[in-house]
Amino acid sequence: RPAKKPKLSHLTSEDFKNGIFLAPMVRSGALPTRLFALKHGASLVWGPEMVDKAMLHAERVVDPLTGVISYNGQSRAMFTTHPIERPYLIFQIGSSDPDLAVQAAKTVMNDVSGIDLNCGCPKPFSTHSGMGAALLTNPDVLCSILTALRREMPPEITVSAKIRLLPSREDTLKLVERIVNTGISTLTVHCRTRNMRDREPAMVERLREIVEFVEGMGKGVAVVENGDCTGWEDARRIRALTGAHSVMVARAAESNPSCFSTTPLQDVEKTLVPSYIRLAEYLDNHWGLTKFCVNQFHSSHVVVRKADAKALRQALSKSKSYTDPVLKEAIGDGVSGKEEFDQIANAIE
Ligand code: FNR
Repeated sequence: RPAKKPKLSHLTSEDFKNGIFLAPMVRSGALPTRLFALKHGASLVWGPEMVDKAMLHAERVVDPLTGVISYNGQSRAMFTTHPIERPYLIFQIGSSDPDLAVQAAKTVMNDVSGIDLNCGCPKPFSTHSGMGAALLTNPDVLCSILTALRREMPPEITVSAKIRLLPSREDTLKLVERIVNTGISTLTVHCRTRNMRDREPAMVERLREIVEFVEGMGKGVAVVENGDCTGWEDARRIRALTGAHSVMVARAAESNPSCFSTTPLQDVEKTLVPSYIRLAEYLDNHWGLTKFCVNQFHSSHVVVRKADAKALRQALSKSKSYTDPVLKEAIGDGVSGKEEFDQIANAIE
């Protein structure tokens, strides 16, 4: 088996070990992408970050036909999920306030298996209001949020955090110690500092001492590596190099959500894109979001004829909805969205 899937009705720290996970990604971590990642070997999936306040006024609506659960804001669905992913779904919150974080977590807790706190987003949107990477230099607030979540969530909901490295080793270990002492089950470390760009290589070599430090604390907390992993094979290399219990993948999965598999799909335009579009239509995924996600997909080994890929891309950019005849023609016939969904449900259960 490429990755261990949780067998219990709820997750424990152990389920965060020996795994390969889909990272939280705003927009790119949409429901169809998460389902494809699970189908192709991801052991757990993180949802895109949702800011606590946005969740408080969301209306929860269930589609009786498909079972899709939408958390709707004033004009659109902010977060959608489906009960089949619930055993594997970690919901990520952006917060700088323990009460708001708890309220947001309570809003969604019946549809997810864990709550993760984003302590790594360096974008001004997050940091200006004290969220994301701003928490790294405000450990009192960071830890008060995790403590409140652990206290207020039922035991079957895991609480975890995703951080970045601090510039100094000592400061990083001090922060890690405080975070682990809040009672979390899992700590993901994006092996870049707040000021590093994604094109700079992740400092994976700094993780081993963090893993050993957390193991030395004896609480059984899983440490997850994040940064530059390209897929299943690479995750093995990274685990051997760092001692990390698991690995989390973002951009490689954004390009190809089957990268978790021992045999990832090679010609994504031919294989993944048509299935993805049909599944997304069945799940009533917002067309603009589907288009955005599909535009990120590309094959690492180009085996698909360039002309075919170009025709599909052109049809996609012209199409204004799932029912556009140009799009229908470009993706051709194949397994229906409902059949695709059923296959995924069978594969992941
Ligand atoms: C991200 N990342 C991110 N991180 C997070 O904690 N919450 C989020 O919502 C997002 N959103 C997001 C969107 C997109 C499009 C990208 C590319 C990235 C960061 C991501 O989870 C990860 O930490 C980094 O991308 C590093 O991992 P990779 O890409 O090197 O595997």
